[in-house]
Amino acid sequence: MDVTVFSPAKINLFLAVTGRRADGFHDLVSVAAPLDFGDELKAETGGRRTEAGGVFSLECDQAEVPADGSNLVLKAAEAFANATGWRETVRFKLTKRIPMGAGLGGGSSNAVAALRALNRLSGDRLEAAGLERLAAGLGSDCVLFLRDAPVVMRGRGERVELLPVAATERLRGRSALLFKPGFGISTPWAYGRMVARGTDYLPAPEAETKLAAWLGGAAPAEELLFNNMEPAAFEKYLALPVLLEKLRREFGVAAAMSGSGSTCYALLRDGQVTSALIARIRELWGTEIFMREARLA
Ligand code: C5P
Repeated sequence: MDVTVFSPAKINLFLAVTGRRADGFHDLVSVAAPLDFGDELKAETGGRRTEAGGVFSLECDQAEVPADGSNLVLKAAEAFANATGWRETVRFKLTKRIPMGAGLGGGSSNAVAALRALNRLSGDRLEAAGLERLAAGLGSDCVLFLRDAPVVMRGRGERVELLPVAATERLRGRSALLFKPGFGISTPWAYGRMVARGTDYLPAPEAETKLAAWLGGAAPAEELLFNNMEPAAFEKYLALPVLLEKLRREFGVAAAMSGSGSTCYALLRDGQVTSALIARIRELWGTEIFMREARLA
């Protein structure tokens, strides 16, 4: 038996890191939206156990993606087996399109895709709350991928609720042009830079006021864009702010970095012709970059 699960990327439209916690993680208030662009995870039961005697194995079409126990797909599978006692031989095949070190949540999304695939193969052993508990244990960004819609994230990212309907309406049908330079940014590095700089945090009450103003108003998606992880990343990777500023000036687009980077995006207006925008980004960053237009879920 096999199932194939779509594993979407996400972007953060609003990301306010509010402070460092005693456990080393950071508290944040964020609005994130899954995209119609992502990876695909196939899970197939049967076949032999791996040489090491394990029941879960992973193949990936991209050589640079680690397919060993460090991959969140296999960590998620172990967590699922431990929680449910369901432990059949499963081969995962991951078709990877989301770049790594991108701030697009690829690894977290793959982990949730694995949980969903195993839940289906096992006859829905876990209900929504059980899946959510496992997802939260796998990574701060995982729970958002259980909602298939724009969400507000709090805590270290694992406390997730759907956006109010009126706010979701203002995001509906919008798309973004994603562009990532040839380098990635490691999430722990980016948070480490915020700690070292110490000046970028937005206190939680201010973050909540800022978000509430957008949620309670009628401003378009453009006015939601905010990311206070940008200064730490931009200090080292100057190409990012230079490009964003040019795109804002030359095309009038709203643009930001997603998560801890290095992917940035421009929000597109309905029916906006993007060929000139794409050509300009290629002109400035070269052809060896990742670029993709995607719609918000
Ligand atoms: O939860 P996840 O494994 O995705 O986090 C990766 C790293 O990013 C953590 O080890 C931590 O250094 C940093 N992080 C953080 N605060 C968050 C999320 C991640 O400091 N809310």
